Amino acid sequence: MIEVKNVSYTYMKKTPFEKTALQEISFNVNEGDFLAIAGHTGSGKSTLIQIIAGLIDLENGVVEIDGETIKNKTARRKIGIVFQYPEYQLFEETVEKDIAFGPRNFGLSESEISVRVNEAMKFVDLEESLKNVSPFELSGGQKRRVAIAGILALKPKYLILDEPTAGLDPKAKKNLLAEIKKLHRAGVTIIFVSHAMEDIAVLANRVIVLAQGKILFEGEPRKLFGQAEILERAGLLPPPVSQVMQKFLRAGFNVSTEIITLDEAEKELKKIFSAR
Ligand SMILES: Nc1ncnc2c1ncn2[C@@H]1O[C@H](COP(=O)(O)OP(=O)(O)OP(=O)(O)O)[C@@H](O)[C@H]1O
Ligand SMILES: [Mg+2]
Repeated sequence: MIEVKNVSYTYMKKTPFEKTALQEISFNVNEGDFLAIAGHTGSGKSTLIQIIAGLIDLENGVVEIDGETIKNKTARRKIGIVFQYPEYQLFEETVEKDIAFGPRNFGLSESEISVRVNEAMKFVDLEESLKNVSPFELSGGQKRRVAIAGILALKPKYLILDEPTAGLDPKAKKNLLAEIKKLHRAGVTIIFVSHAMEDIAVLANRVIVLAQGKILFEGEPRKLFGQAEILERAGLLPPPVSQVMQKFLRAGFNVSTEIITLDEAEKELKKIFSAR
């Protein structure tokens, strides 16, 4: 379990540029969760996940991983973090070396590294023949998969992804989301930062909405999307499916406000129209 207790954070404290990014944030992430963190630009999402990963030193509050402070290396090693646009962090001469970089830093044996590189490449659907290619010769979607494979090769128990589908075309986006889902099914606990409510709707079992560094909502996605006021305050829109269902509701149809996926909407609408 990840425990975040009373975390506050201010950038450039005691300077004219002082900026409070997080205020009194507390929540837990349970093993097996697929937790989404949503919020308007500047709401504190990236700051929060960097704190969870132990990349920003805390002055106020505590982060514990399975009961151990994130200040300890053993706790930090349970967390993998994929930054937004991770492909910009590729730097090795070959795909293989790039993916092996983290495991090598962990001091693993060469045979173990090789097994992990192969597994990670397979997981993200990168062909073995790409191993000796320079990452810079790959397409955008492939580069991103190399970057993610590099994190997977560390076998994190908890995986944090900061807007992993930003800038991908629809097909690459769909593939990546399917891979993340597969990882979750394989037992990895996921923290997924996203603006895309339709992705959150189909993937996450819990969502935290941040606004101006505070938690505005925490709970099941389907409980969030009917709450127009909270969404408005957070600067977010419900997924298109929910918007359509709300239009039906306002037009006097007896539809559920908790419908959030296309499949659910199809069933509900068939029910209404077959009753006529
Ligand atoms: N290195 C920094 N120095 C100073 N202020 C920062 C720094 N990083 C972030 N901030 C400020 O802290 C606040 C929260 O930023 P953060 O990057 O966590 O937001 P975010 O929710 O990830 O936004 P986005 O959706 O745009 O990625 C913003 O007001 C931002 O301007
Ligand atoms: Mg961010």
